[in-house]
Amino acid sequence: MSNLRIETARPKPEEPLATEGVDRAFIGGIVGDFYTRVRKDEGLGPIFARHIAGDWEPHLQKMTDFWCSVILKSGEYQGRPVPAHLKLKEVRESDFAVWLGLFRQTVQDRCSPEVAGVFIDRAERIARSLQLAMFFTLDAAGKEPADHDRK
Ligand code: HEM
Repeated sequence: MSNLRIETARPKPEEPLATEGVDRAFIGGIVGDFYTRVRKDEGLGPIFARHIAGDWEPHLQKMTDFWCSVILKSGEYQGRPVPAHLKLKEVRESDFAVWLGLFRQTVQDRCSPEVAGVFIDRAERIARSLQLAMFFTLDAAGKEPADHDRK
């Protein structure tokens, strides 16, 4: 019998990052630093203040779970980011560039270039899929006008 495996078109799952020192405590430090910067930002700060009133600790713990799941594949984050962002009606597409800029600065300040690169790649990919969910419309993608719109 042949032991050839049939490759499917499914992309390979990402490997967990196995770098000494990159553990939950380290990721928690990144998350805390990042949201300190976000809260000071004049565009993003007020958005977060409206949705996270009072105690930030539960959000920081949730975001640490999220980043541990993304980077270490530890699986503790069970939430659904898309519906959480769809309800943020005041967010504009341009806010994502600011978010990513602050995220990039935070990980570059706290990680080696290799580790920072992994965080940034994954943040950019997730940001793209959130932006698609929040802002993509066929009109914006250059849809042909409907028949009744034609002259
Ligand atoms: C303009 C950009 C963004 C804004 C303004 C924003 C804002 C927010 C706010 C206000 C919440 C809290 C929602 C709530 O608890 O009611 C939230 C949750 C969250 N955000 Fe973002 N976000 C942005 C981009 C991103 C990106 C790029 C990522 C991932 C790379 C991300 C990951 C998450 C996750 C995982 C949650 C928790 C969702 C849950 O409840 O399970 N966000 N975000």
